Amino acid sequence: MLHTRLCDIFGIEFPIVSAGMGGIAGSGLAAAVSEAGGLGTIGLAAFTRDGIRNEIASAQRCTSKPLAANLIVPFLRPGILEIVAESKLAAVTFFWGDPREHESAIRAFQAVGSKVIWQCGGVDEARRAVDAGVDVVMAQGFEAGGHVRGQVSTFALIPAIRDALPEVPLVAAGGIGDGRGLAAALALGADGGALGTRFLATIEASAHNSYKERVIGAQAADTIHTTLFDVGWPDAPHRVLRTQVVEEWERVGRPAPGNRPGEGVTIVTLRRSDVEIPLVNYSVLPPTDYAEGEIERLPFYAGQSCGLVKELLPAGEIVRQIVSEASQVIAHRLSPLIR
Ligand SMILES: Cc1cc2nc3c(=O)[nH]c(=O)nc-3n(C[C@H](O)[C@H](O)[C@H](O)COP(=O)(O)O)c2cc1C
Repeated sequence: MLHTRLCDIFGIEFPIVSAGMGGIAGSGLAAAVSEAGGLGTIGLAAFTRDGIRNEIASAQRCTSKPLAANLIVPFLRPGILEIVAESKLAAVTFFWGDPREHESAIRAFQAVGSKVIWQCGGVDEARRAVDAGVDVVMAQGFEAGGHVRGQVSTFALIPAIRDALPEVPLVAAGGIGDGRGLAAALALGADGGALGTRFLATIEASAHNSYKERVIGAQAADTIHTTLFDVGWPDAPHRVLRTQVVEEWERVGRPAPGNRPGEGVTIVTLRRSDVEIPLVNYSVLPPTDYAEGEIERLPFYAGQSCGLVKELLPAGEIVRQIVSEASQVIAHRLSPLIR
């Protein structure tokens, strides 16, 4: 049985978290991960207030096990924190803001019994999160998919945060694609692992099928760290697959925003019960299963762990495989090294 204090903090069976992924990690994915014993996270960044309410309710209908919600600080709008707090989820993850400016929100969630996780990209940010009173730090390495907060790889970041903050419950994110990665993260001082890219290529993820297929076929070196997809969220570095639109932009000399090929042209419409959103070239939103149009031109967020993603699987199966492989690695590869 693979058990760390993270399991006790959230009331889960295994120290595995599915990352909040706006538009991609909906109620179905989160519920499937939680049902399998991990902590499933609903990525709420792409939802309206009504959408948030519906998505959380839908996940809670699918599982009675602990669930988390993810909020991106620059996208917080009036009323959102209150709606999420009302749901009394096991945890809420915040990303991309100064935690010290959100101490009252942190306390409000804790008051209703939700643990607060802050995803950080460096040691200083992790210190600020602890000072602000969060329950758990999620440390995101540079190899991560999606928006990337810092510059340091997971392998260097986790021990540095563990040394700086010996007591803090710590989740490693970035580059973990299987049980070997989880075992390594635990060895480095983390109490668990969060995976985004691996859970993107699941039956339950709301990513467009062609996006899932591209991730399955990609290698680590097929990703690029860039600020290209900035419409809706400027100057926010992210890691994406090197798709045709990235190559086209590179071919013409990487022009600055305003001068890129096809700037301002509508390429896709997102159609969902709560929204109908036209997206222009270089939009921040990824291709979801409710996107219609030139979806190849949207950002295919993926981490370097894409090289470890070989097949589309149900999310629960991934949780079980990771637990089994991490346990094998610890028991049969690491333990016998001690003589
Ligand atoms: C498609 C995608 C979308 C993401 N969206 C979010 C998001 O909305 N909020 C967030 O906190 N992190 C987001 N992330 C980053 C994850 O929280 C996490 O740091 C990352 O997935 C870990 O690296 P990995 O992809 O190698 O597992 C996203 C990642 C991916 C791959």
